[in-house]
Amino acid sequence: MQTILITGGAGFIGSHLTRLFVTKYPDYKIVNLDALTYAGNLMNLKDIEDSSNYTFEKGDITVAEFVNSLFLKYAFTGVLHCAAESHVDRSITDPLAFVRTNVIGTVNLLQAAKNSWKDQMEGKIFYHISTDEVYGSLGEEGFFTEETAYDPRSPYSASKASSDHFVRAYHHTYKLPVKLSNCSNNYGPFHFPEKLIPLCIHNILNKKPLPIYGKGENVRDWLFVVDHVRAIDTIFHNGKFGETYNIGGHNEWTNIALVKELCKQMDEKLGREPGESAALITYVKDRAGHDLRYAIDATKLKDELGWLPSLQFEEGLSKTIDWYLSNQDWLNNVTSGSYQNYYDHQYNKR
Ligand code: NAD
Ligand code: TYD
Repeated sequence: MQTILITGGAGFIGSHLTRLFVTKYPDYKIVNLDALTYAGNLMNLKDIEDSSNYTFEKGDITVAEFVNSLFLKYAFTGVLHCAAESHVDRSITDPLAFVRTNVIGTVNLLQAAKNSWKDQMEGKIFYHISTDEVYGSLGEEGFFTEETAYDPRSPYSASKASSDHFVRAYHHTYKLPVKLSNCSNNYGPFHFPEKLIPLCIHNILNKKPLPIYGKGENVRDWLFVVDHVRAIDTIFHNGKFGETYNIGGHNEWTNIALVKELCKQMDEKLGREPGESAALITYVKDRAGHDLRYAIDATKLKDELGWLPSLQFEEGLSKTIDWYLSNQDWLNNVTSGSYQNYYDHQYNKR
């Protein structure tokens, strides 16, 4: 019998992970801890919120007493740590918010797990979900492997790198049973429309400008979010303790090529003239310190654990657009801010 704490389960990746674990493992008890910041949206979990093996706890991982009290209340056997501040542009404006949640919040969780598990580490797992951005920026050649030296260059990636170091330090020093993964850029349903793909889908729908930073030549390696959480499931159950696995789809796109593909697919789906949406593309001032290229070598995950992505990008992008077109209420609730009332509506009525 496992009782698993998922942090940040109301966010983009966390909600897909929570759905997968709640539905695939009916014998596991899943507790979703989320502070419901602007990025947390319980509507993402509407389809599973009444499942008997699912519980939601509203709370902040930066508050150590609260985190400790939750470990006492539930006696967790596993942790899947997703909660984070995740947007690079916000980290440039407010780095301290990233230090608080990504560094202090992670250390609070590690400390609570260590205290709770100190007499019995066997059978426990602390899984830390991280990003490829900790490795820095590539030139035109090469890939990030698990051996690539850390070289974070934005406040976001610096805070994630710091949290990764703390996770490894708890393994080395206290023998905490940890696993880590570093994944490339995700896309898919429930992606908050401040990130490139959902922002452009929203703006194409509303015929608003599509802001491309700099010349649009920066490269990202895109993975469908459901493939990411499948990989996390595989590593959680079969990965080696103390190890890191890189996750990526060998799917590199320059931002401008990606946005043009998005425009093409949306023109077709919306019955617009070819080129109508691409005319909305607008080059804007570049992001400060903008990393040029990310690309993951996921050979270790494939060779050791047999994981491969299930979707080609054009197909995943098409599914994603279809989801946004069929869920325009979700998009409107998020862009208007009304999703933030859902917690009161759903939970305070009980
Ligand atoms: P997100 O911003 O969509 O969600 C973050 C969630 O964490 C939200 O529900 C938010 O309410 C919650 N949260 C934030 N601060 C909190 C706090 N102090 N206490 C409790 N909950 C808090 O993020 P995401 O894109 O789903 O990313 C999830 C994780 O995956 C992050 O750790 C991120 O670094 C990592 N990651 C993301 C990507 C990507 O492309 N999005 C790629 C690789 C790794
Ligand atoms: P983003 O989705 O913010 O992810 P990350 O910065 O973590 O990779 O951005 C993806 C790429 O798109 C990145 O190179 C920055 C660029 N970008 C734009 O050109 N315009 C935008 O409005 C946004 C949000 C991002």
